Amino acid sequence: MVTLCAMRFALCYFLTNDMEAPKESKIEIKAIRGFSDILPDQVGKWQFVEATAREVFEGFGFSEMRIPILERTELFTRGIGEATDIVEKEMYTFTDRGGNSLTLRPEATASLARAYLEHQMYTFDPVAKLYTIGPMFRYERPQKGRFRQFYQIDAEVFGVENPVADAEVIIMLVRFLERVGLEKLELQINSLGCRACRPGYREELRNFLTKKSFGLCEDCQRRLQANPLRIFDCKVETCQEAIADAPKVVDFICPECQGRFDQVKENLNMAGLSYVLNPRMVRGLDYYTRTAFEVVSYQLGSQNAVTGGGRYDNLFQEIGGLDVPGIGFAIGMERLISLLPEEKKFIRYPHLFVAALGEEGFKEACRLVNQLHLQGVWAELDYERKSLKSQMRRANKLNARYALILGEEELKQGKAVLRDMEGKTQEEIPMEGLIDTLRKRI
Ligand code: HAM
Repeated sequence: MVTLCAMRFALCYFLTNDMEAPKESKIEIKAIRGFSDILPDQVGKWQFVEATAREVFEGFGFSEMRIPILERTELFTRGIGEATDIVEKEMYTFTDRGGNSLTLRPEATASLARAYLEHQMYTFDPVAKLYTIGPMFRYERPQKGRFRQFYQIDAEVFGVENPVADAEVIIMLVRFLERVGLEKLELQINSLGCRACRPGYREELRNFLTKKSFGLCEDCQRRLQANPLRIFDCKVETCQEAIADAPKVVDFICPECQGRFDQVKENLNMAGLSYVLNPRMVRGLDYYTRTAFEVVSYQLGSQNAVTGGGRYDNLFQEIGGLDVPGIGFAIGMERLISLLPEEKKFIRYPHLFVAALGEEGFKEACRLVNQLHLQGVWAELDYERKSLKSQMRRANKLNARYALILGEEELKQGKAVLRDMEGKTQEEIPMEGLIDTLRKRI
């Protein structure tokens, strides 16, 4: 007969942190390059960020939508623009068995716009405030902060032309980032003009860069004709040099765009938000008009944009013929999460480990654990019925907050031992009313 008394004194020996070093993986089939697994010890951060987004966004009147991961390729070629990096070289496109060209979504804005039109959401209310959370796919060169499958939290307002909506969306984004606990971020804004004034600027830029075209990389030589604004995004040093003193889009925007941009800034000022004007930020998607913004972190290295967004008043016409204005943003979750500190609050540990001795102890442990699970208490036990020493080692390894030790002798006396694994103290507690006692502690 094993009793606890003989063992209690020995427990302190076992309660050391004995995490094993990870063993080298033996698997031959590994995840695809640029595609990551999010392991349980990281998931807490993801859940925290997603829950905070839901809470903040819903407070601002946004509703969640879930959209397909696959769309017809045409949605993105028309929506994002043929002459963008995304459409030219980053889409995962394939033909399905029915001969349709399909694409894994590289972003969510075009899909949300398609869904709004397809379900005629405007008939209920022309204004729709929507958000969605999920994976996006781009065949980019993987590096720190850049993946081929990455997650976005995307929010959009459809149906409002007034620049008050631009400011509201930016304010919501900043409040969310504050709530998540991120500091030292910089909000950058710009105006990209509209259909009326952008062509003039594009021409001006093309003329300017034509004079420097010998310094441009092969891609940018092509961009010069097709879409010179994209040259701003090129990371090649000689292209950066060529563009350094290029004309700024804000100097070419029409009075209406200027007036709207001033209103956005005024509303941001009223909300007490600080921002930086970045005349070189043009965003990598063609659908943008007027307001464009990014939130960057200088802790992130070259892929420093945590969020990108802006207004897109022509996207709906491109994909469906209706004239619906839109404004929104997408947060890159991997980049945001990499800025969060490693905190204990993000990791879940069992509330309780039930260590049982003998036949009766094990039966009681199973019964108790089942009841506790129904009460929302995460309780674990040792399925292999190993020695107390080994059970306590496991409780310690799992980082259980408490251990409940059920010894046969103590059970006969209607008692159990509750050990506080953090405080390293223990006490006897009666079996009667045990669940209530545990729930009060946990
Ligand atoms: P985007 O700038 O292409 O905009 O992406 C938004 C954010 O997604 C980026 O700031 C970055 O944090 C993250 N991101 C983009 N590509 C990658 C990648 N390969 N790996 C990791 N993170 C990445 C859009 O997607 C627009 N749809 C945003 C928007 C919504 N504009 C208006 N509404």
